[in-house]
Formats: sequence, structure tokens, C-alpha cells
Amino acid sequence: MIYGVVLAGGVGRRMGNAEKPKQFMTIGGKPIIVHTVERFAVCSELEKVIVLTPEKWIDHTRNILAKHIPDMSRVVVIEGGDTRNETLMNSIRYIESEGNLDDDTIIITHDAVRPFVTYRIISENIKGAQEYGACDTVFPATDTIVRSDDGVVVSEIPDRSKLYQGQTPQSFKAKKLREIYEGLSEDEKAILTDAAKILVLKGEKVHLVMGESFNIKITYPYDIKVAETILKGDE
Ligand code: CTP
Repeated sequence: MIYGVVLAGGVGRRMGNAEKPKQFMTIGGKPIIVHTVERFAVCSELEKVIVLTPEKWIDHTRNILAKHIPDMSRVVVIEGGDTRNETLMNSIRYIESEGNLDDDTIIITHDAVRPFVTYRIISENIKGAQEYGACDTVFPATDTIVRSDDGVVVSEIPDRSKLYQGQTPQSFKAKKLREIYEGLSEDEKAILTDAAKILVLKGEKVHLVMGESFNIKITYPYDIKVAETILKGDE
């Protein structure tokens, strides 16, 4: 079985909006999280779309999604965790509680604050996870990336043709991801904020899926303006 997992458990500190987490801010007349869940809710390949938010935002999320999504029968809203990975693990616990966690169960995990994901990206993630066990959505780096170990001088300027920016979805065989995650020490868990990195560091193959330049993550107030512009281009 294949599940969509929309990660909305964060509070959006860098957005600086004390009133509500950024996934509930509005672009194009709808909350960001609604745009994102809509893109998953129309994928018939998905058994369910699991949306994970901070506990106090669960009811609000159910209400706004129900207002905009005609068929909510495959959408569930549950509590996220203290970290992004803990939120992800809560989705796997939910699948297990439904009796649907086996070696072939796949999760397509996506940031709630990337509202422009496409059907092409989601379906290539499904195929990538089925064939390779794990995949990560990336986009070729456009800027030259400079590495500095001390923040003072340049240590290295890696070959840009081999560099990509990480996006989401990141997709996994859920059981295997959890087994590896549970085998990490607390220190490793603290460092491994990226779920794909967990597998890479343990020597597992993670297939690349090509993203899109417009599959942006809304992080800072400026990104809201960029998102509005992208939406206008869609009209
Ligand atoms: N996320 C999550 N659970 C957490 C932390 C983050 O599901 N405990 C989600 C966010 O809601 C977001 C995605 O992971 O959709 C990407 O994270 P990021 O952009 O860092 O979101 P925040 O943690 O909310 O932002 P900030 O780091 O500025 O506080």
C-alpha cells in the first residue's frame, strides 16, 4: 500500500509569525496546507493521505481541509512530533495501527509548505520507492555552491554539475526506514534532520527524482511573495 504523508508538524519560527504556523497562512485565497493536500488527495494511487500537525491545530486543519476538499474519505489528520523525523515516524505508527505496515508499504513524505508539487513528481516518487526502496526529489543546483569549514575562508568549490538542491517528496519503504531510524543513537537522531540522509549514511541506495524549480519551500516572509507570483502564473 502507498500512503501520502504531509508533514505539517512545525511551527515556522523563521517565518516569524507568532499567530499561526506558516502552513496555515494564505496564498491565492487558500491556506498553504490546503494547496498541498489537494495535490495529494487527487492521487488515486494513494490509500490515504496522512496529514500531521501540532496537536492544537488538528481540529482547525480538519475544518479547513473539509471546506476545500470534496472527498475527505481518504484524508486523515493526526498529531505530529517534536522533530520532523518524529512527525514522520508518527505517520508510520498510524499505518501500523491500521494493520497495513508490511515490507512493501510505501510512504511519500512531503513538506506541507511545498504547495506546488506536481502529479508527475508524486508518481515518479511512487515508482522510485517501489523500484529502489527509497527516493529523493532534487533539482540541479543553479548557484555555485561554496563549502567553508570555518565560515571564514573557502575550503572547496565542488563541481556544480554534480550538485542538486534537495526538495520533497522523499519516499521510502516505511518499515525499513523505521528500522534504521530506531537503530540510531540519540546524537545521530539529532543530526539527521533529513530522512533521506538516514539511509545514505547507512549505505542504502536512494534514487533521484527530478523536481521542479517552482517546487519551493515556504520558509521566510519573502517566499510568500514568490508563492503568490507562482500562483498567478498558473492562472
Ligand atoms: N515539520 C514537521 N514536524 C516538525 C517540524 C517540521 O512536520 N516537528 C514540517 C514543517 O511543518 C514543514 C516541513 O517539516 O512543513 C519543513 O520544515 P521547515 O520548513 O523547517 O518548517 P518549520 O520547522 O515549521 O520551520 P522553522 O524551521 O522556521 O521553525
